[in-house]
Amino acid sequence: MPLIIICGTPVSGKTSRTTELKQFFENVHNKNVEIVSEDEAIIKLGYEKNSTYLDSQKEKRVRGYLKSEVIRLIGKDNVVILDGSNYIKGYRYELYCASKASKSTQCTIYTIRNQQEAWDDNIRRIEANESKPNDNPDLNKQPYTEEVFNALTKLRFEEPNSNNRWDSPLFTVQTTSQLDLDAVYKVLFEKKPPPPNMSTQNPPLSSTNFLYEIDKVTQAISKQILDSKQLNLDIIKFPEYPGCVLEVGFIQSVNPQKLLRLRRQFLTYAKMSHSNEEANKIGRFYIQYLNKTLTD
Ligand SMILES: *[C@@H]1O[C@H](CO)[C@@H](O)[C@H](O)[C@H]1NC(C)=O
Ligand SMILES: *[C@@H]1O[C@H](CO)[C@@H](O)[C@H](O)[C@H]1NC(C)=O
Ligand SMILES: *[C@@H]1O[C@H](CO)[C@@H](O)[C@H](O)[C@H]1NC(C)=O
Repeated sequence: MPLIIICGTPVSGKTSRTTELKQFFENVHNKNVEIVSEDEAIIKLGYEKNSTYLDSQKEKRVRGYLKSEVIRLIGKDNVVILDGSNYIKGYRYELYCASKASKSTQCTIYTIRNQQEAWDDNIRRIEANESKPNDNPDLNKQPYTEEVFNALTKLRFEEPNSNNRWDSPLFTVQTTSQLDLDAVYKVLFEKKPPPPNMSTQNPPLSSTNFLYEIDKVTQAISKQILDSKQLNLDIIKFPEYPGCVLEVGFIQSVNPQKLLRLRRQFLTYAKMSHSNEEANKIGRFYIQYLNKTLTD
């Protein structure tokens, strides 16, 4: 059921991570793993790697093919790993919507590597290819031309970002570092909705003043959200909480009834958790809580 999206620039270790994940899920957790490989898709469609990335029509067909393979496999009881560059933000968003539609969990593994090192490795692949052209060793180790390498490394690559819900949860991993496989397993198989992020370790505090404060703060935020929606704004910023923004997806899904219900839930939680965070922090938690609940 779960989907793992590999994302990374050329020669950054995507296929090695894919193999590592496959072995982990099969051997440690006895799962059935399906790999959907971009390199293999290119061959299947009768294309060649270098020219595919220089032809937007071909690339589009490859992406379409990969997506349909993912959708075909995702419904079953197995782990699907999409091994490819997946460098387009909008494409990752489409995959996220597809996995969500089939009620699957998902995560993104972002493989990063020093560009010079990756290029040096690519040159070694070119040389190996030239010395043994008919020996087609490993499909996934086919080199890139310099033009394609640069395009996919610098110009076109849209870095994943854990603030985008479709890229999240995001694991960023260097070629030399260890991927936390247990954490990947957990987010895919033991995922629970994130609780409001409030510290529960503070000493109890139920002063009327605190309750009054959080009531006032959350009410003001709710009001600002509804006012902004009424004005058809597509982004909401909160001057009191720098960096806190709510985006168009949130604004579209919020309405007065939902907001009322969520505010009550939040207040109940805040009281139970005996938090003595100052009101300013509570405001921020409230905004994040709404955001998570309505856009996740
Ligand atoms: C892509 O270009 C590189 C560099 O010119 C070359 O070594 C490689 O064989 C090409 N790849 C394929 C699949 O033809
Ligand atoms: C939640 O709180 C923990 C501990 O204070 C912090 O490390 C973490 O970054 C917070 N997460 C979010 C999403 O705010
Ligand atoms: C709300 O979610 C969006 C999309 O995930 C993110 O970009 C934004 O920073 C979030 N805002 C807050 C206040 O958490």
